[in-house]
Amino acid sequence: MSATGEKVTVRTLQKMKEEERPIAMITAYDYPSGKLADQAGADILLVGDSLGMVVLGYDSTIAVTLEDMIHHTKAVVRGAQRSLIVTDLPFLTAHLSREEVLKAAGKLVQEGGAHAVKIEGGEEILSGAKACIQAGIPVMGHLGLTPQSVHQLGGYRVQGRDKETAAKLLRDAQLLEECGAFALVLECVPTELSDEISKSVSIPTIGIGAGGSCDGQVLVYHDILQYGSNLQPSFVKKYAFVGDQILEGIQHYVREVRQRVFPEKKHGFHLSSQQVKDLYGGKPGGTMDGGR
Ligand code: KIV
Repeated sequence: MSATGEKVTVRTLQKMKEEERPIAMITAYDYPSGKLADQAGADILLVGDSLGMVVLGYDSTIAVTLEDMIHHTKAVVRGAQRSLIVTDLPFLTAHLSREEVLKAAGKLVQEGGAHAVKIEGGEEILSGAKACIQAGIPVMGHLGLTPQSVHQLGGYRVQGRDKETAAKLLRDAQLLEECGAFALVLECVPTELSDEISKSVSIPTIGIGAGGSCDGQVLVYHDILQYGSNLQPSFVKKYAFVGDQILEGIQHYVREVRQRVFPEKKHGFHLSSQQVKDLYGGKPGGTMDGGR
């Protein structure tokens, strides 16, 4: 949260980098997650296309559509008051023509209510990113493990371990800064490289599986809360176990329904004795109150 409780903007984030105040970002996908993450003080809510995996049950982010992203962004926006809301451009979109990229980003902002968009990729997405920035749409970059390219990368694996790929990541980070991106996600890159990148760009870097030298951190809501998430990446720290609590709660409810423990009298609606009399001639056991 901005120290003053004011709305977080791209300027707030830049100032946080300059003042070496760590940025806390988390994904959110709907009204309750947006509301809770905002209340908890997260600076940035990312409506990530990871929603394909943790909310919609796909095995990658590839099937997620622009309409999905707009739908979920709207819900997060309704829940949040203060955090900056950033939405992912879905699979392939950033590789279309400048006009198509701009149109898609425009919909996320105008229809969805996002404050900014995140685009996966480096040099290859610069022209679309520039089109957005020139049109007044802030762009967050995303380098390293870019999940939309999972097939090209040969799986969800650490990036930038060799000289060539590390040099490309550093160059891409600098190009994104030059093109006007306001921040940069670094996913699954060695800490030494994210340290180097974070020092060599003046925009904030936000790490996920990228060590502690980034200017901020991002994790997936369902992962840190253990909320129905099957993936257990080693870089995730678990802060709560809500999936277990939900399971126990629902099992308890099912048991009580089967045993007729629920509902109790207080969970129903009742007529006065006079109303029962008027309606059913005062016979106890009339249909409306079940005889209670
Ligand atoms: O979609 C997403 O949740 C992301 C984060 C993992 C950075 O891109």
